[in-house]
Amino acid sequence: MPVIVLASPKGGVGKSTCAVLLASEFARMGAEVTVLDCDPNRSLTRWASHGLPKGVTIHSDIGRSDVVATIKKSDGDGKIVVVDLEGIASQLVSRAISQADLVIVPMQPTALDAEIGSEALALVREEEEALNREIRHAVVLTKTSAAVKSRVQRELEIQLNGAGIDVIEPSLVARAAFAELFAHGGDLTSMMNNPKIVTGGKVDKALLNAQTFTEAVYERLK
Ligand SMILES: Nc1ncnc2c1ncn2[C@@H]1O[C@H](COP(=O)(O)OP(=O)(O)OP(=O)(O)O)[C@@H](O)[C@H]1O
Ligand SMILES: [Mg+2]
Repeated sequence: MPVIVLASPKGGVGKSTCAVLLASEFARMGAEVTVLDCDPNRSLTRWASHGLPKGVTIHSDIGRSDVVATIKKSDGDGKIVVVDLEGIASQLVSRAISQADLVIVPMQPTALDAEIGSEALALVREEEEALNREIRHAVVLTKTSAAVKSRVQRELEIQLNGAGIDVIEPSLVARAAFAELFAHGGDLTSMMNNPKIVTGGKVDKALLNAQTFTEAVYERLK
C-alpha cells in the first residue's frame, strides 16, 4: 500500500502539519494509517501523546539505520504509511524518499521557500537516478491566504507548472485550527466536537480544506 513521504530541507514549511492532516483524514475515510515520526524534534509524537485518531498508529524515533526496514514492515496490506521527516537534507531523508510512492514537498509561497523547496525536488531526482525508477512527487503550497491568492503564489504556481512539477490543489490555507491540532491531538472533528476546546479558528473551513487536500492526494496514489 502507498507510502507517502513529506520532505523539504526548509524548516517550518508544514511537513508535520501535512502528515497529521493526511493521517487523520485518511483514517476518517476508513483507511488504516501508520505514521512514522523520523524527526528528532518529534512533532508527530507530541501530537500523538494527546491522543491519536481511530485507525492511526505511530512509530517514533526512527533514524537513518532503521527507516527503510520500518517503512517496509509498516507497508502491510490495506495500510497507508505517512512518513514525517526532519527539515534538513540528510541520508535519512534520501532513504525515506527511496521508499516512497508519493513524495509531497510542502512549500510556502515565498521566493526563499521556493528556492530551498526546490532542493527537495532535486533530492527526489537523485533517488530516481540512483534507483532507475520514477518517484511520483508533488508540491503543496502551505499557509496560503484564505482570502485571495497572493501575486507570489500565482507566480510560483506558474513557475512550478512551467517546470512540469505537479502542484496539488487545493493549497493548505493558513488556519489557526491546523496549528491548534498539535496542542490537542486527535483530528479536526474531535477538536470541533469537544466543548472544552475553544479554538481561535474556523475549524469547519479547516476541515473542508484538509478533506479536499487529502482527496487530491488520494487521486495521485491510484
Ligand atoms: N496551514 C497552516 N496554518 C496555520 N499554521 C500552520 C500551517 N502549517 C503549518 N503551520 C504552523 O507552522 C509551524 C511549522 O509547521 P510544521 O511543524 O508543520 O512544519 P515542518 O515543515 O514540519 O517544520 P520542521 O521542519 O521544523 O519539522 C507550526 O507551528 C505549525 O502549527
Ligand atoms: Mg516537522
